Amino acid sequence: MRQRFGGPWTLIKLEVLEKYLNFYTTALKNQPFKLCYIDAFAGSGKIDIRGEIAIPGSAIRALDYPFHEYYFFEKEQSYITALKKEISKKHQHKSVVIMQGDCNELLKTLSAVQWKKEGWRGVIFIDPFAMELRWESLKVIAQTEAFDVWYLFPLMAMNRLLRRDRRIPDSYEEKLNILLGTDDWRKELYRESRQLSFLDNKNLEKCSIDSIREYIIRRLKTVFPGVSDNAKILTNVEKRAPLFLICFCVSNPSDTAIRLSLKAADHILTHFNPYS
Ligand SMILES: C[S@@+](CC[C@H](N)C(=O)[O-])C[C@H]1O[C@@H](n2cnc3c(N)ncnc32)[C@H](O)[C@@H]1O
Repeated sequence: MRQRFGGPWTLIKLEVLEKYLNFYTTALKNQPFKLCYIDAFAGSGKIDIRGEIAIPGSAIRALDYPFHEYYFFEKEQSYITALKKEISKKHQHKSVVIMQGDCNELLKTLSAVQWKKEGWRGVIFIDPFAMELRWESLKVIAQTEAFDVWYLFPLMAMNRLLRRDRRIPDSYEEKLNILLGTDDWRKELYRESRQLSFLDNKNLEKCSIDSIREYIIRRLKTVFPGVSDNAKILTNVEKRAPLFLICFCVSNPSDTAIRLSLKAADHILTHFNPYS
């Protein structure tokens, strides 16, 4: 079973990921580290473009880069079956572990390994449909001090729950708290409107999408020692609706690691021109 093509942002995220994997595996080629790639939302291995052609998804693309181990997490059994078939075509010699389940639960198992001390370094790709990743999972990743992270933050899904006037149902509030690991978005993402309300003289309005972007970067900086300031908003071409924020974080606290990884990620993030 193949997955349907989302839109041009699908190609952009895959291009960004591949550019980084190329940089990463080249930069660490002569270093004494074992390299690990984790795809937290691995998919089926193929993406169907309008029923015409199929292109390789993130997990299959990652197999073209020389990591020592690959871990693919995926919830849907049918996608796992398809992914295994794709891997068997040309990558059967690679060390791949495919795990079925909720990636938040699977990511918790990362804390059982002393990744950094045991000489591991790696990249984690987080590519959800919407708000499936819990903030707690980012903390688990940061504690490894070994992985760089690309996170397609679900800007549109989050923005939909942030009602303009902040009258947000409890169930939405809980989802936002789980996504962001805090409830401070209530004050950070709203401000007093200049328009007076007849009821209480105080009207709240939601911040701009750019302010939301800056808030997400600030939140990531509370967890990771290195976070790119160049996270880019990926939009839907026709509507120009913000869909995802492509973010990059470094969990290794070493200054050298942060500097090198951020330099590469910033270069990638500032040298693509969405939908040009
Ligand atoms: C946007 S797609 C990922 C596409 C993939 N990165 C690629 O390039 O082919 C999201 C995937 O995550 C899976 N998924 C959704 N929720 C999940 C969860 N909580 N844990 C693990 N996988 C999940 C979906 O079944 C879907 O295959």
